[in-house]
Amino acid sequence: MSRSTSLSPSVIVTRLRAAGCVFAEDEAELLLSAARDPAHLRAMVDRRIDGLPLEHVFGWAEFRGRRIAVDPGVFVPRRRTEFLVEQAVALAPSRAVVVDLCCGSGALGAALAVSLERVELHASDVDPAAVRCARRNVTAVGGQVYEGDLYAPLPAATLRGRVDVLLANVPYVPTGEIELLPPEARIHEARVALDGGADGLDVLRRVTAQAARWLAPGGHLLFETSERQAPQAVETVARGGLVPRVVTCDELYATVVIGTRGK
Ligand SMILES: C[S@@+](CC[C@H](N)C(=O)[O-])C[C@H]1O[C@@H](n2cnc3c(N)ncnc32)[C@H](O)[C@@H]1O
Repeated sequence: MSRSTSLSPSVIVTRLRAAGCVFAEDEAELLLSAARDPAHLRAMVDRRIDGLPLEHVFGWAEFRGRRIAVDPGVFVPRRRTEFLVEQAVALAPSRAVVVDLCCGSGALGAALAVSLERVELHASDVDPAAVRCARRNVTAVGGQVYEGDLYAPLPAATLRGRVDVLLANVPYVPTGEIELLPPEARIHEARVALDGGADGLDVLRRVTAQAARWLAPGGHLLFETSERQAPQAVETVARGGLVPRVVTCDELYATVVIGTRGK
């Protein structure tokens, strides 16, 4: 059989199922519809069977109804995080100044920007691959992306004390639990995107320690956490001088902490 012969849908389903893909039929349909030609289809099926997340195979993820570019190794924006963006949309004032810290692909900031009018959007990440990827998604909606550790690369002189919405979907998996993650995350997403230190809250503590200085009066910090970590995360927010509250979405299994600076 020639390498350019197209794979049949049933062969794709069988191969995906054998590789452990739970939604083999759905994935086969998506792969078939995304394939440019038989060789492209075969290459995508092979990569998926090797364990690459479907989003990395395609080079994009769907997030709040939009395609977000996702490069190899970059954290795939999760559907549950749409809940965080929904909260941010509800809290943002008009002409909001938005910062997306630990932005990964930049999905959160980009999705928020298209849901609001006249946003000033800044995003940053420490991982050069994430920054390259975010530049594609964030500049497309008029934002800017910086590379570096947390707040360090942001333009402090013009931004500090003006941020209305600070999105910070930081890594929050405890180091000891990384090996329990599915291989798609454990192997194909950067360790720096997942590892939150011994209790999962190391990066968050560094974010909350400085958040009040960057937020405008009445501004909000929003981040995701696990249900188990929420009480400690709330304490961390309060220690940073913000008023914390927790919102949850059962359907998406999402827990979001919001910390608000007093006016
Ligand atoms: C869980 S991923 C979230 C990405 C994106 N916010 C999202 O929800 O799709 C965490 C991101 O934080 C970045 N990161 C980890 N430590 C960082 C640090 N000290 N400074 C800046 N970014 C960091 C990682 O590179 C990764 O892109």
